[in-house]
Amino acid sequence: MAEPVVYLNGEFIPAQQATVSVFDRGFLFGDGVYEVIPAYGGRLFRLEHHLDRLQRSLDGLRIANPYTRAQWSSVLQALTQRAGSIDQSVYVQVTRGVAQMRTHAFTEAGSPTVFAMSSALGAVDPERRAQGVQTITHEDIRWHRCDLKTTAMVANVLLQQLAREAGAEETLLHRDGRIIEGASSNVFVVVQDVVVTPPPGPELLPGITRDLVLELARENGLPWREDEIPLRSLAKVSELWLTSGSREVMPVIAVDRQPIGDGVPGPVWRRVLALFQEFKRGAQAHG
Ligand code: PDD
Repeated sequence: MAEPVVYLNGEFIPAQQATVSVFDRGFLFGDGVYEVIPAYGGRLFRLEHHLDRLQRSLDGLRIANPYTRAQWSSVLQALTQRAGSIDQSVYVQVTRGVAQMRTHAFTEAGSPTVFAMSSALGAVDPERRAQGVQTITHEDIRWHRCDLKTTAMVANVLLQQLAREAGAEETLLHRDGRIIEGASSNVFVVVQDVVVTPPPGPELLPGITRDLVLELARENGLPWREDEIPLRSLAKVSELWLTSGSREVMPVIAVDRQPIGDGVPGPVWRRVLALFQEFKRGAQAHG
C-alpha cells in the first residue's frame, strides 16, 4: 500500500516526513483547534458547517484563520480525492504555531500550523447499532468553554477511557445534575414522544450531527425541543441516542447498567436514522 499523504503548512507530503517543531504551541499547550469531517463517496459532508465551526473555535482562541473558505475547500478536497471514493474521516488541526519561548501568554504575530489528514471512515457496524450500546456516567470534569473544539482534550481522553474500561461505548457527562453531552458525542433523549437535547451554549460542542438531527426533526414534523436533561430523569425516558460524525445516530440501551425504556432501540430512533440515511444518500448524489 502507498504511504499515506498528509497536508502540512501548504504541502502534501508523505506522513513519515511530516514533522512539527517541539516549540509548537499545539504540542506545548494544546493551544489549537480541530475538526473531524466525514466524506462519503469522496464528498465532504456538511463542509460549510464544519468550516463555520472551525471559524468559531479559532475566534474563541484568538487565532487568525490562515485560509479563506475557498482555500480550505480546495485543500480538503484535494486530500479526499487522493483516497478515491471510499468513505473517509478528514482531520484538520490549526495550532497557534511555533513559539520563541515557552510562555503561556502569546504574541499576536506568530503564524499558525495547519495540519490535515484523511483516513478510512469505518462504517457503523449495523449489528451493533441494531442492538444498541451501553454507556456509563461521570461528572463533567472539563473546562467551561466546551463549545470550542480545542485540541486540549485530556479530560475527554480520560473520560472516554472510563467507558472503554467498563466495556461501554461512551461516558455521559453531567454537571449540576444535568446531562451535558458524551465525551465525544452529543446526547438526545425521547420524553413522551418529544425529541430532547440540551440547548447550545458554552457547556457543549454544537455537533454537526446534532444540528442535522434537529434540522431533520423540524423538516419532518417530529416534535423536538432543546431543554435540560436531568440525570435523574433518565429512569423515565423512553429512548436515548448518541450523535457524532463517526457514530451517526446510535441508540443507547443502558446507562450505568440500568435499561433505558424497554432496553432496546426505540421507534423514534428508527425513524430518525432512516431520515439521516436518506439525507446522507442525497448529499452523496448531489453534493
Ligand atoms: N468529536 N461532543 C464532543 C465532545 C465531541 O468530541 C464530538 C465529536 C461531538 C459530536 O460532534 P460532530 O457531530 O460534529 O461529530 C460532540 C469528534 C468526532 C472527535 O473528537 O473525534
